[in-house]
Amino acid sequence: MKTVLTIAGSDCSGGAGIQADIKTITAHKLYAMSAITALTAQNTTGVSAILDVEPDFVAKQLDAIFTDIFPDAIKIGMVSNADIIGIIADKLKQYNAKNIVLDPVMVSTSGSKLLVPEALDALINKLMPLADIITPNLMEAECLAGYEIHSADEMIKAAKDISKNFKGSILIKGGHFEGNADDLLYTNGEIYWFRTPRIDNPNTHGTGCTLSSAIASNLAMGYDMKTSIKNAKDYITGALKAGLDLGKGSGPLNHCYNIKL
Ligand SMILES: Nc1ncnc2c1ncn2[C@@H]1O[C@H](COP(=O)(O)OP(=O)(O)OP(=O)(O)O)[C@@H](O)[C@H]1O
Ligand SMILES: [Mg+2]
Repeated sequence: MKTVLTIAGSDCSGGAGIQADIKTITAHKLYAMSAITALTAQNTTGVSAILDVEPDFVAKQLDAIFTDIFPDAIKIGMVSNADIIGIIADKLKQYNAKNIVLDPVMVSTSGSKLLVPEALDALINKLMPLADIITPNLMEAECLAGYEIHSADEMIKAAKDISKNFKGSILIKGGHFEGNADDLLYTNGEIYWFRTPRIDNPNTHGTGCTLSSAIASNLAMGYDMKTSIKNAKDYITGALKAGLDLGKGSGPLNHCYNIKL
């Protein structure tokens, strides 16, 4: 059985973060492991509190995982301070980790800031160089490029500009655009669009976490980057189409829509 590690924050309401990742990895019939970077108190209406895990304890989790069950792929999500980011980068290098998907989480779906400004430098300089792919949403791509993005052409320009300081693949997600939910991949100097119709569903809590752990799951199974993204897009489209409706705000997806009992 292939194995996937998620390094991320806990979402007690189960729709995003570690919980979304474990459900996604399990729905891909893979073995899920987790190193928790922060506890969050949140639900479908917003984040009310964040408690960062001690950096040393993040290191201990990663040592325990890597010295025993080596992950075939890794998804990194919420990493809210520079010390934790430094520890993760050191451990990934120490253990020669592979198939690293970095979701540069800066702001939650509900608008809460999840990355303190000092951590942004560490994310860019320490974690990004280790990633095989980064998956910024529109706002995160704007932050990494340094300007606003208003069109498909500007998405392409931003991907090319971000790639000047980053060797891996870049997937700019179009979930926050008007119209279709088209994501742009820039890899090895080439552009690919992953085009899907926008599903009319207000319940999009955790789409970003789910997409990045689905990409990691596909990489763990041995698919190449383009196929992994195509499969992950199909999975998230299905999970949105399933039309789960829980909670008072933007509710979670149905991660288990494709599991037949
Ligand atoms: N309504 C929708 N219909 C179809 N696909 C969607 C929809 N909303 C988002 N997606 C897709 O979900 C994935 C996540 O994109 P999104 O832009 O929402 O990421 P995000 O902002 O990082 O999510 P999060 O808020 O969970 O961090 C992308 O593949 C995007 O195209
Ligand atoms: Mg996101």
